[in-house]
Amino acid sequence: MSNYSINSLEQYFKVYRRSINKPKKFWGKIAENNFTWYQKWDKVVEFDMEKAEFTWFKNARLNITKNCIDRHLANKGDKHAIIFEPNNPEEPSRYYTYSELYTEVSRMANVLLGQGVQKGDRVCIYLPMIPELVFSVLACARIGAIHSVVFAGFSANALSTRINDSTCKLLITADGGFRGAKTIDLKRIADEALMRSPGIEKVLVVKRTHQDIPMTAGRDMWLQPLLDEADVTSKAAVMDAEDPLFILYTSGSTGKPKGMVHTTAGYMVFTAYTFKNIFNYQPDDIYWCTADIGWITGHSYTIYGPLLNGATTVLFEGIPSYPTHSRFWEVIQKHGVNQFYTAPTAIRSLAKEKIEFIQNFRLESLKVIGSVGEPINEEAWHWYNDHVGNKRCPLVDTWWQTETGGIVISAIPFVTPTKPTYASLPFPGIKPVLMDELRNEIVKNQQIGNLCIEYPWPGIARTIWGDHQRYIDTYFTKFPGKYFSGDGALRDEVGYYRITGRVDDVIIVSGHNLGTAPIEDAINEHQTVAESAVVGFPHDIKGNALYGFVVLKETGLWRDRNNLVKEINQLISDQIGAIARLDKVQFVSGLPKTRSGKIMRRILRNIASGELTDFGDITTLVNPEIVEEIKEGRL
Ligand code: WTA
Repeated sequence: MSNYSINSLEQYFKVYRRSINKPKKFWGKIAENNFTWYQKWDKVVEFDMEKAEFTWFKNARLNITKNCIDRHLANKGDKHAIIFEPNNPEEPSRYYTYSELYTEVSRMANVLLGQGVQKGDRVCIYLPMIPELVFSVLACARIGAIHSVVFAGFSANALSTRINDSTCKLLITADGGFRGAKTIDLKRIADEALMRSPGIEKVLVVKRTHQDIPMTAGRDMWLQPLLDEADVTSKAAVMDAEDPLFILYTSGSTGKPKGMVHTTAGYMVFTAYTFKNIFNYQPDDIYWCTADIGWITGHSYTIYGPLLNGATTVLFEGIPSYPTHSRFWEVIQKHGVNQFYTAPTAIRSLAKEKIEFIQNFRLESLKVIGSVGEPINEEAWHWYNDHVGNKRCPLVDTWWQTETGGIVISAIPFVTPTKPTYASLPFPGIKPVLMDELRNEIVKNQQIGNLCIEYPWPGIARTIWGDHQRYIDTYFTKFPGKYFSGDGALRDEVGYYRITGRVDDVIIVSGHNLGTAPIEDAINEHQTVAESAVVGFPHDIKGNALYGFVVLKETGLWRDRNNLVKEINQLISDQIGAIARLDKVQFVSGLPKTRSGKIMRRILRNIASGELTDFGDITTLVNPEIVEEIKEGRL
């Protein structure tokens, strides 16, 4: 794989310079030398940053599953592609070689075809972290259907909204899912969602928990009998480079989730190349990313990136605390994991447990450890580095987003010296820039600005499903000519980037993106609530937790406080999912508002975080007296 691995800092700088000065040549070479194409491209890239239009590898033809599976069969057919580690450690692990993966994906692809799924159709996947989830994703890609995976922790309402937004016609789900000591009634939730999603014609159901579930005749089918009858070989559909590969929803500043659309060739090239370099994957390594496939990290770095590189990827069904807080370390030891990729929130939750939970495990197999999803604080960084990486494994703090498709700022292990809390240097092909509020570029070091990217890269999302204008407005308007990430960052003297957090109304709780608007909508559904505002505040384990300020229609109802809080949180769970529940709820008689009626969230954020002295300029408020009241009543 020529031009593919970066092995020294000197080489990184060289490659980086080349990637910025001659991006077409750079990406063209990587695409040319490392993938299987039915037909090569006419042009590497065409773009218009104002209109947010990107075409990578124009007119090329390919199928991503040919690159994930078929091309490995000749030399790596017997190599493990997937190691499935169940929730319950007593249940045996399952191993799938690349040949077996081919068979499983083919059968699933044939089942989908048999159910009338065609190229371009949307298929919703609402499954726990089981092998059928990976097979379903790849089977969609095999036949050119667009997969839309919905995290199995989302509620019926959230599932239904997502199904309807992208008009999915088929749903793949399971009877239930295991999650630690709990069982999640996935089919029951799906049934509830489908009452509001009549567009779903067929439901394929995986048997996982073996619980009793109702099946709707003519709509619901058990998957296994269909798989048993399906042909074990399949042809990969010929896809255009820019055909959509998947839709994945992410939270935004308004109530409606954004269906980010990723296309085929650019996403493939970008996830493969970043995976190889950022995890320094070597041929016999066992790689494990703990992220759920319901999020972008699971898409890009549990499935596509590793399989494109012919890697062995661990698929873990469970949670870090079940049956004990040793579960992660047990899995690393059991499978001899070489690269481990997880979120700061998991690290913080394990770091607070007794050291014995990790001490008795052999973690020598580890070579590289990674972090993603939120800023990693200094304490968590050191604990991860010292106790998991044993001060010997480079810790890559990888910054990226659903929208970027793959990692865009990160150290390259054994190449870039790491620095706690800094994601460090941009990946080749990425040109970050910090902008101030006046739209000037920040050239000074250590000054926080809005993190933007100047040129497109192959993995950039192409649009928001059904709403290109929203895509332009959200990412390409505030700083014309640039992609705006919504994150703040600063740069140090050597050019390392440190991500400081969101600068918009998205709050990252336990590594999950939550928009404040949909949570407020859910709270406001309560019959006693007049209005509400949700902000984040620092939390030891979750990174951020949610603080709700709620105004009631009648103050007399305040007496039922505990009950009210419960009901409000139930509404949030129903509308979005338990991940969006409020940690604190303060009932107030009003919210600080500007003359134009906008809630001044900055003040609420300060109060929630315990920063009670400096509120800045509050003269534009129509009700400045409310600030004192809210401050006094702070929880
Ligand atoms: C945050 C997850 C600091 C950031 C891949 C971003 C991070 C949002 C990091 C995207 C990191 C992700 N350091 N913050 N290493 N990685 N973030 O779309 O705020 O689920 O905008 O993608 O997570 O979350 P998303």
